[in-house]
Amino acid sequence: MNTKERKSIAEFYDHFIPYRDRADVKFFVDLAVENGGPVLEIGCGTGRVLIPTARAGIEIVGLDLAEDMLAVCRRHLDQEDEPTRARTRLVVADMRDFDLGRQFTLITTPFRPFEHLITVQDQMACLACVHRHLAPGGRFVLDMPNPSITQLADDRCLQETGDEPEFTMPDGRRVRRRQRVVSKDLIRQVNEFELIYHVTDADGREERLVYRFPRRYLFRYEAEHLLARAGFRVEALYSGYTGRPYGTVDDRELVFVTTKV
Ligand SMILES: C[S@@+](CC[C@H](N)C(=O)[O-])C[C@H]1O[C@@H](n2cnc3c(N)ncnc32)[C@H](O)[C@@H]1O
Repeated sequence: MNTKERKSIAEFYDHFIPYRDRADVKFFVDLAVENGGPVLEIGCGTGRVLIPTARAGIEIVGLDLAEDMLAVCRRHLDQEDEPTRARTRLVVADMRDFDLGRQFTLITTPFRPFEHLITVQDQMACLACVHRHLAPGGRFVLDMPNPSITQLADDRCLQETGDEPEFTMPDGRRVRRRQRVVSKDLIRQVNEFELIYHVTDADGREERLVYRFPRRYLFRYEAEHLLARAGFRVEALYSGYTGRPYGTVDDRELVFVTTKV
């Protein structure tokens, strides 16, 4: 992926309707208000959750590896009032290896950054960093997709699919987003995945931009073992963002609320 492609894809993020309307923001903001901050958001991206948290009066540090995503976040922050901006700090860092020299009362991972860690070694490295940065009694929220065995066995995902509506960028470009699984490694639990953006500019020129990356899925008990091994106690496990316990409703998400042991 070249620089222009990466930048465009980061810019599309907040306009893609299922991301824009994702029903998790209130959950993370409420948790931050309840905990009181300071909060560390791992993989904060464009600030979709970080900015509403800062608006709610909570000090928050956002950490992300992707400078293009943070550049979009900075532009959004420029539109905010001074007290909100003053409560935020952005850090370019890898979640597997960071040292911010301070601790937080709450550390979160909204919208699945953890699935970007492909090996157990990477996952443990990230959890060790989180553990070091968590104040005594602090909480860590691990937000992951719940793998569906039915979907894993279904090869229709190897075709380009997606029926999300087209969206229009402020500069007039129209964008349709599709996706496909390129390959499935059932042994390593890694799917090679593509997000495909079909872009039509104001002059009718068409472009196809592809963001390819591996995703590692974890099953519920595997994640629980990993968390225990890294020194976290699971306080609650939710299926989503309305406080319903795992197993009682649609189980597309695994949201672990944990405390530092
Ligand atoms: C789906 S986005 C979620 C962004 C944001 N938390 C939200 O809820 O909209 C996942 C984010 O994880 C970041 N990420 C992936 N691997 C990372 C790593 N090793 N270290 C830090 N951030 C990483 C990506 O750059 C991306 O911004």
